[in-house]
Amino acid sequence: MTALNAIVDAATAAFAAARAPAELENAKAQFLGKSGRITELMKGLAALPVDEKKAQGAQINLAKQAIEAALQARREALAEAELQLQLQAEALDVSLPGRRRGGGGLHPIAMTMERIEAIFGSMGFDVADGPEIETDWYSFTALNNPENHPARSMQDTFYVDMKDAEGRWLNLRPHTSPMQIRYAQAHAARYADVIARGESMPDIRVIAPGRTYRVDSDATHSPMFHQVEGLWVGENVSFKDLKAVYLDFIQAFFETRDLQIRFRPSYFPFTEPSAEIDIQFGSGPLKGRWLEVSGSGQVHPQVIRNMGLDPERHIGFAFGTGIDRLTMLRYGVDDLRLFFDGDLRFLSQFQQA
Ligand code: PHE
Repeated sequence: MTALNAIVDAATAAFAAARAPAELENAKAQFLGKSGRITELMKGLAALPVDEKKAQGAQINLAKQAIEAALQARREALAEAELQLQLQAEALDVSLPGRRRGGGGLHPIAMTMERIEAIFGSMGFDVADGPEIETDWYSFTALNNPENHPARSMQDTFYVDMKDAEGRWLNLRPHTSPMQIRYAQAHAARYADVIARGESMPDIRVIAPGRTYRVDSDATHSPMFHQVEGLWVGENVSFKDLKAVYLDFIQAFFETRDLQIRFRPSYFPFTEPSAEIDIQFGSGPLKGRWLEVSGSGQVHPQVIRNMGLDPERHIGFAFGTGIDRLTMLRYGVDDLRLFFDGDLRFLSQFQQA
């Protein structure tokens, strides 16, 4: 029977050598096919006497069963290998982070604007928006800045190749102060009958944030920058209101009470008296340094008149604060140009997760 064992071993080895189902079926034919080695042995039984036939037949059957079992095992192994290959090819790495659409977010300057609007909103100020292309009158004349006055050159302006109804070149506003006039005029017009009856109109209390333009460009100046104008006009508004409002604002903005302000005498044609507002942090990297953040002053009587109001009756204050400056101070950025380069590696740092 060693001959039969040798055949079984040869079949098992041939099956193991088969790398694909077709090769395996060829190998099978060599042993179990029509003229395979087992089949030939079966045929040889016919010539034997009955009892030998029985004995040998049983042995051959055992060998045949062993070969069939080996064949079946190899078939399953090949099928399993095939399945594994396919699964590998189609595998998903569920541990990879998903591909998301890039998240949008507000520009840091816009975040500052929203912050300023929220703080002044909580103090009862309206928020107004106005044109960036202005007439000469709103940008200068109405603000008591007469033609040919040297103060105009403090605000080297961009002009637009188009004239207004008075034949003067339109300009890109060099400050948000024109909004003082525009907003107050609209307010005075809305309450014209109240004022005519000698009654009190509600106070004008507004901020106007927006873009402004000057011929200026270095690490702390950009030809396009942002200001927020503030205006409070009523019958009984004074410098102490300006000081209280501004101190409240700036402390809320920087989220600290450890911050003081000072007024430093200055000049603007549209305010009298005028002052620069400086702030000083009591702690942190800027501790102890006075930093200029705003122009301000009591609205000039001529400007009150240009608003359509009576300077004998109406008085108030205005301020104009650099939004970019506040943003730089809040986030510790020392080059203003970074905000406008459009580099997402810089800008995305300001997004909350
Ligand atoms: N418009 C002034 C500027 O741009 C700032 C300012 C606003 C000053 C309001 C006084 C009152 O420099």
